[in-house]
Amino acid sequence: MNKLEKIINLAEKRGFIYKSSEIYGGLKGFYDFGHLGVLLKNNIKKLWLKDILSMGNIFLIESTIIGPRVLYEASGHLENFYDRLVECKNCHNRFREDHLLEGEYGEIEIKDNKALCPLCKGELTEARNFNLMFKTYIGPVEELASEGYLRPETAQGIFVNFKNVINSMRAKLPFGIAQIGKAFRNEITPKNFIFRIREFEQMEIEFFVNPEEDEKWFKFWLEKRLNWYIKTLGISKENIIPYELPKEELAHYSKKTVDIKYKFPFGEGEIEGIANRTDYDLKRHMEYSKEDLFYFDQEKKEKIIPYVIEPSAGVERIFFALLCEAYDEDEVPNEKGELEKRTVLRFKSYFAPIQVAVFPLLSNRKELVEKSKKIYETLSKDFSVVYDSSGSIGRRYRRQDEIGTPFCITVDFQTLEDETVTIRDRDTTQQIRININEIESYLKEKLKICNS
Ligand code: GLY
Repeated sequence: MNKLEKIINLAEKRGFIYKSSEIYGGLKGFYDFGHLGVLLKNNIKKLWLKDILSMGNIFLIESTIIGPRVLYEASGHLENFYDRLVECKNCHNRFREDHLLEGEYGEIEIKDNKALCPLCKGELTEARNFNLMFKTYIGPVEELASEGYLRPETAQGIFVNFKNVINSMRAKLPFGIAQIGKAFRNEITPKNFIFRIREFEQMEIEFFVNPEEDEKWFKFWLEKRLNWYIKTLGISKENIIPYELPKEELAHYSKKTVDIKYKFPFGEGEIEGIANRTDYDLKRHMEYSKEDLFYFDQEKKEKIIPYVIEPSAGVERIFFALLCEAYDEDEVPNEKGELEKRTVLRFKSYFAPIQVAVFPLLSNRKELVEKSKKIYETLSKDFSVVYDSSGSIGRRYRRQDEIGTPFCITVDFQTLEDETVTIRDRDTTQQIRININEIESYLKEKLKICNS
């Protein structure tokens, strides 16, 4: 197994991620998240919220997933949000034209001036536009007027609430509206595990600024977001790559976009994009809704349409990057002192899905079990904790290493004499003994968010 296969295998085996509708053969491009996956996802979202809300001028919103057709006419997605699709006339496999041209399937054979399918050598069709939005109907009648779309980005729910937020929150430029939520894209070829999927979660900020200050704020957000990946999430600098998109790759609304890419084992992939969306969206919504979406600049005593800087991050992609970044294999001594191979996820302790595991040394000794359960219950109030009493201590450590638990507490016979326990560190495997009433402050110190 290569590294990528090992990571996927671990994620599925240990309850981070499951294939969606697996008992029916799975649904391509869709994944479900298990207990540990949900905990890790929540931690990513919490760290993002903590970082942006501390600015004081970011307001949250949760808008609907389904929007009316007119919303996506106005946003330009009905007209512009497509990939070029090529189909094999023989095996009917579908490909993205850009992926074929980029050589993802090797060199494409040409015969009699016609491109051949890389899979079966059948003839390929000409490329056509394939809109990536999922369409549905709102209410019982299937007609144009009841057409709705699952949002392809959370951003549009923000733009249509621009006036509501200004009026209700007394927002003044520069300010942001942020949203975390699901978005949907009917990808032609979902691939690379949870990297390119059809249902995913975004964390987006639309940051409204005076048009004269767009470049200053673009720089600000690019730096802030790069910092977040490196300092807060602890991703190594070499694995985070800013990449400015050439003009021909820009989305229809963007004047400038810098992607933040992560070096995945399968290659570099975007985990966030910072875009200067100018006044494109607000203008278009004004035009289609006929509502006044101007902002009144008190200083200049004039109406303006703000520009928008948009940091837009993919939760699953960050999740995947963290799994890749944390995955490691090393050798540690087992109970007999012999070196043994282990798999370990070296998550930063403050966002590990499980922060502490509590073990009784022996599961058949009532005093040890009772004491451990009491510690487990107390710690559960403040930390993400599991209790485990099955198998040898060595096996229990290995299980926690595999899911990235930074601390394991063991209650042993000495505990019964002097109220001390051992705390084992995942990375060093070193153990220290501390008093039960010191555990909480020890963990709080160790689990403090490190931003430097
Ligand atoms: N809102 C930007 C994107 O979804 O890519």
